Amino acid sequence: MTETAFLRCIADFCGATVDVSTTEFRCPRCNGLLDVAYDWDRLTPPKSLKDLEAGWTRRMDPIDFSGVWRFRSLLPFAPSGQIVTLGEGQTLLQRADAVASFAGLDSGRLFLQYEGMNPSGSFKDNGMTAAFTHANMVGANRAACASTGNTSASLAMYCSATGLMKGIVFIGSGKISYGKLAQALDFGALTIQIDGDFDDAMSRVQQIAGRLGIYLVNSVNPFRLEGQKTIMFRVLESSGWEVPDWIVVPGGNLGNVSAFGKAFAELKALGLISRVPQFAVINAAGADTFDRVFNKLRLRWKDGDFDRVAYQSYIETMDREGRRADTLASAIEINRPVNLPKALRAMSVCGGVVGTANDQEIMDAKARVGAGGFGCEPASAASVAGLKKLRKEGVIARGDRVVCILTGHQLKDPAATVAYHGSDNRQFQSILGQRGVTAAPFANRPVPVVNDLDAIIRAIEGVP
Ligand code: F0G
Repeated sequence: MTETAFLRCIADFCGATVDVSTTEFRCPRCNGLLDVAYDWDRLTPPKSLKDLEAGWTRRMDPIDFSGVWRFRSLLPFAPSGQIVTLGEGQTLLQRADAVASFAGLDSGRLFLQYEGMNPSGSFKDNGMTAAFTHANMVGANRAACASTGNTSASLAMYCSATGLMKGIVFIGSGKISYGKLAQALDFGALTIQIDGDFDDAMSRVQQIAGRLGIYLVNSVNPFRLEGQKTIMFRVLESSGWEVPDWIVVPGGNLGNVSAFGKAFAELKALGLISRVPQFAVINAAGADTFDRVFNKLRLRWKDGDFDRVAYQSYIETMDREGRRADTLASAIEINRPVNLPKALRAMSVCGGVVGTANDQEIMDAKARVGAGGFGCEPASAASVAGLKKLRKEGVIARGDRVVCILTGHQLKDPAATVAYHGSDNRQFQSILGQRGVTAAPFANRPVPVVNDLDAIIRAIEGVP
């Protein structure tokens, strides 16, 4: 292998390597997942994390303005001239004392990483810029994904804004929120609504991408995860390069936790950090494959692989029992996470726990996040809901320094938010009640007032 970047099968027993010019994202030998791997000895990674801050001083150059590509020395698979960027990654790590108090953490110990501030409103842009860059390197002209809404919004945006590829998105019929559907349509992607859910759409898009030679941008694409590593670089940078005690992240297709694990493994191997944080991955209770296989089946990354037979038999039982993912947090309504092996590996790198939060807990946490700052969509609030439970169980201590990743913007799913805060009981029942949400203790109800000056003043002053 003469290239300094290549793809490598994640399973130690296999270890097959493939040239970066491939667009097949499964191992040709064992069908496992692939990593982007680097020959660091022939590259120039930063000597210290502080060196990475230098990118800020060159921010008139789009690749240094990008919150992904200013870390390109840690994802060096693309020649600079081929990088495709839309200014992604200008996101914020915000200290959140009110939310800390809700979750049971000491003041000053909780930080929220607002990935909803990306151009398409979710963390996906971190990965999409990297996948687009790779697609650009290989000259692809069509790209596709299955999506619960955010990947499709991001893909559609990169297609329309760059004009480099035609976007084709597969979504489960009735399964994505309006904010996200609106984006795919408005950006002009070919939007295929499949009669099924995300898991169905995911299996179809892999077939179709293979058959028609369409570039696949789901997180089985290892370049996506290279971009998503930079979320951790930004978290560290915003923390003065201090490693937090915990990173809490919602788990859906498990791309984020996989990317974060790879980021920390590489930083450690390069001698850039001396310790790693622990991970808490939070599934929605209605889409809890990772929780079940980690905590009940006790699947682990061991000797460079995992028990594929046990996992396959778990999936077969799930199918036999007809268990389908079902949660209001539609972004993580996924029962067959494609990155499961990488997520297990990430847990072995950093340690930590996997948990769940139900839709009531998610909606309550979401309301507290909204009241305490910039807001987020339901799936993102699973991180805060999970943190609150882990605090109660004593897994996370009140003095631990915790970063919750808020993956998507507040406006992605306005229907759930308005149903929670509003006074329309029918709307509450149809959107939240049928998902087991029975109350809205943190609702900020709109106040109906007759169009009369005194009545309006009374409403403002709180006089009945
Ligand atoms: N949060 C949001 C807002 C998401 O959109 C997703 C995934 C996740 C969390 C889960 O992240 O897959 O890395 O574990 N959304 C995908 C999509 C599946 O199609 O938009 P993960």
